[in-house]
Amino acid sequence: ELPQPFTVSLPIPEVLEPTRKDADTDFYQITQRAADLEIIPGTTTQVWGYKGTVPGPTLISQRGRRTVVTHRNELPVPVVVHLHGGVTAPEHDGYPTDVIFPASSDHGDHGTHDDAADFEHSDHLASGDTSDGEREYVYDMDQPAATLWYHDHRMDFTGPQVYRGLAGFHLIHDDAEDALGLPTGDRDIPLMIMDRAFAADGSFFYPSVDPDLVDPPGVESEYMSGVLGDCILVNGAPWPELEVSNTKYRFRILNASNARRYRLNLDGGLPFVQIGSDLGLLEAPIEHGTLDIAQAERFDVVVDFSGLDIGEEVTLHNQHGADGTDVIMRFKVTRQEEDSGPIPERLAEVEILSEDDVVAEREFVFARGGAQAHGMTLWTVNNQAFDPDTILADPKLGTVERWRIRGLDVEHPFHIHLAPFQVIGQDRQQSVSSFNHGWKDTVSMDTGGQVDLLVRFDGYRGKYVFHCHNLEHEDMMMMANFEVV
Ligand code: C2O
Ligand code: CU
Repeated sequence: ELPQPFTVSLPIPEVLEPTRKDADTDFYQITQRAADLEIIPGTTTQVWGYKGTVPGPTLISQRGRRTVVTHRNELPVPVVVHLHGGVTAPEHDGYPTDVIFPASSDHGDHGTHDDAADFEHSDHLASGDTSDGEREYVYDMDQPAATLWYHDHRMDFTGPQVYRGLAGFHLIHDDAEDALGLPTGDRDIPLMIMDRAFAADGSFFYPSVDPDLVDPPGVESEYMSGVLGDCILVNGAPWPELEVSNTKYRFRILNASNARRYRLNLDGGLPFVQIGSDLGLLEAPIEHGTLDIAQAERFDVVVDFSGLDIGEEVTLHNQHGADGTDVIMRFKVTRQEEDSGPIPERLAEVEILSEDDVVAEREFVFARGGAQAHGMTLWTVNNQAFDPDTILADPKLGTVERWRIRGLDVEHPFHIHLAPFQVIGQDRQQSVSSFNHGWKDTVSMDTGGQVDLLVRFDGYRGKYVFHCHNLEHEDMMMMANFEVV
């Protein structure tokens, strides 16, 4: 039975300590494993977690210091780790077929063991750069302070693997942001929002065709549009409560849900002062009464509780929800504290891309149809199902392109790896919603919607993916390759 809202306190994910450091690099170690957690008080839920926790531990990198994370896979399935929002070399970006096979002898020894042979077959992994048991991911971290996250990206099975818990925060700090005097320490709080459904025995309910996640991929047909849950978790706890002081807090809000979008608001019209978008600080703060957040988007906001009395409570609502999903969590002002000072009017220098810089234009249509597999009509990009060997775009390193993305049938959150973008038009207009300012890596399209983006391809040459971040759409092939040349 699901608990009453606001009876569990908000967990703050542990910040992972490096196992060692040298002059320019921080080294981390993460084991991915199953664990029994008490998510719903009085019941246990088996999760798959980074270090066995949901969310996984938070990593914090300082801009310019290389970060090396060794992931060990003690789960019964192959995994792939992607740093969402990272400007990462292609061999470390978590390409969907670059799997880490399970380390345990039950499931390991790929090529000799039957399970692993199944995995190879079902994942079409022949072209993948696979590893056994462990893999080292190298992140150069030559990018501004931002709220990134890491999550599973296994070919065909990202939806169920993230649903079981494979997601965590990875923050980047830099000197320019540190100098702003924004709320820090226990007033800088990441909030990972995800909806989950539970089966009667307390396990996560996810309607995979094959519950062992071997073969075939996909979900039962009535879930093709996406898997939703009736329980809202924040940092892994159902409808939690956070005790706050009557000061300003920085919340790094991430929608880590597979298929649910939210429209957030606070009691009494208390505003969200947005200071950052997916990929870092805005030029200047933007005040919002409501916040639309699609899957994988991040909003970095400041909420000022100073106008409230001790004992007052403020609920965070979801206007898109109903029957429980209309509430996210609650803040309760329990103490007086000295405030950190005003939010600076200028936050960062943000380079504005210009249409004059555009060297190529492309258009992609996200829709259902054009391809079939396992008896399902797939989600596709330009009517093509994902194929690791087909490249749909070949931008040149160091250039800016204009991409027009059109979404049919239902809502689709578009996401591109490596390349940050700025939204310059929406729904055939040249105005941009107040939610889409700054550098982004994910943008949502309403049903029948269209976005025009200026995308900068920089950092590395190589093959990367762009896809829908509704994870069921992604798994059912709404993904494509681009290659920076
Ligand atoms: Cu958040 Cu390709 O992923
Ligand atoms: Cu989609």
